[in-house]
Amino acid sequence: MPEAATDSTTTGRAPGGPAGGSCGGEWCEDAERLSADALHALQLTRLRASLRHAYDNVPFYRTAFDRAGVHPEDCRSVADLARFPFTVKDDLRAHYPFGMFAVPRDRIRRLHASSGTTGRPTVVGYTERDLANWAELVARSLRAAGGRPGHTVHIAYGYGLFTGGLGAHYGAERLGCTVVPASGGMTSRQVQLIQDFRPEIIMVTPSYMLTLLDEFERQGIDPRTTSLKVGVFGAEPWTQEMRREIEERFALDAVDIYGLSEVMGPGVAQECVETKDGLHLWEDHFLPEIVDPITGEVLPDGAHGELVLTSLTREAMPIVRYRTRDLTRLLPGTARPAFRRMEKITGRSDDMIILRGVNLFPAQIEEIVLRTPGVAPHFQLRLTREGRLDRLTVRAEARPDATADDRAAAAGRIARGVKDGIGVTVAVEIVDPETLERSVGKFKRIVDARREG
Ligand code: DLL
Repeated sequence: MPEAATDSTTTGRAPGGPAGGSCGGEWCEDAERLSADALHALQLTRLRASLRHAYDNVPFYRTAFDRAGVHPEDCRSVADLARFPFTVKDDLRAHYPFGMFAVPRDRIRRLHASSGTTGRPTVVGYTERDLANWAELVARSLRAAGGRPGHTVHIAYGYGLFTGGLGAHYGAERLGCTVVPASGGMTSRQVQLIQDFRPEIIMVTPSYMLTLLDEFERQGIDPRTTSLKVGVFGAEPWTQEMRREIEERFALDAVDIYGLSEVMGPGVAQECVETKDGLHLWEDHFLPEIVDPITGEVLPDGAHGELVLTSLTREAMPIVRYRTRDLTRLLPGTARPAFRRMEKITGRSDDMIILRGVNLFPAQIEEIVLRTPGVAPHFQLRLTREGRLDRLTVRAEARPDATADDRAAAAGRIARGVKDGIGVTVAVEIVDPETLERSVGKFKRIVDARREG
């Protein structure tokens, strides 16, 4: 076991307090107020223990470390981590289902899995302590979002093998909140529940929040009149423009939550409601690096690149230098000074569209569409191929009150915005209201029809 597992901030209970007690009290804040020095010392102890745990108990890591000529004892400073090999999603797939586990099966309390749209899914296991840490980190995240004991939290992330629903659920309970485990789907009932139970907080994907917005309006309810004060949105990229749209139309504070199943689930990083300036990474449990997505070279703080995460406290499935494919950069801490922030994720390296040599992310199109009058915040990107050339069509939905002139103006504006801002020509189609597919969870923005033609 990692020796780190015995220190007080990972036990999942208040030092001296009752096991499983609520985390609304001061001890939860203790970890958030670590000094930079204390945090660095803790990180190194935990990192060394975690590398040792992986090496001793997971044959995959033993082989990978041996092959790279490194040993856990070689890690004398956090910077030494750069000598260790990366782990990628295919490594997890290759060891499906339980080959990455570092503890005997009878210590595994829960399994989650990512859907695996291509090939085998990846499976993640948690010990009892992993689950306690996860709940604590989601509780910490919710507190940073403005949640407090006694609040009611409506959870519309999907429950099941996806980590969103259950991850949010146990964290909200841990904070001392009342949880409404709505899960995703059955949109009209979600609206009813929000009206009847009057939650202060909603946790949901931003794209599904837009679906809820439509449903409120369809039912003739002004979304600004709900009880909701805070929305904790994640599981997919979303832009500042989307934040403005949701905040204005719902009259709430919208903050970002980040996580991934391979590393834990939601609660790896969280944006603080008082600053809304990117997500504080909970560095007492995860060590972030930013690397060049092509060369793998570690980049300094402030540089854009791919986020790589190493778990510091995970027992069931320690993960070393996991290539998330998420693109961001690291910035100094603000509202939680000991922890660095990561900038809002601009996209995933595998969501990047290369159109006639120009790199483009769906988030860039989102910014432009959401700034355009006359169109709703619903859009889709359709890739087709004409001859040898890829063609991208932005399909955006007209607002119900938009006239034919408004639509034509919007189409021109989006096309110009993309040409001027990104430097590439796209086709724009403004479609009728309520004709594009709606999200019920994580939304797939890109429709790749290139193979059809
Ligand atoms: O999406 C965990 C989660 C649930 C996070 C609920 C936040 C809220 P996975 O299904 O494994 O886990 O997908 C992880 O989703 O690598 C990112 O590409 C993307 N993602 C997650 N949060 C954000 C975010 C959950 N706040 C993948 N912004 C990650 C942008 C996000 N992308």
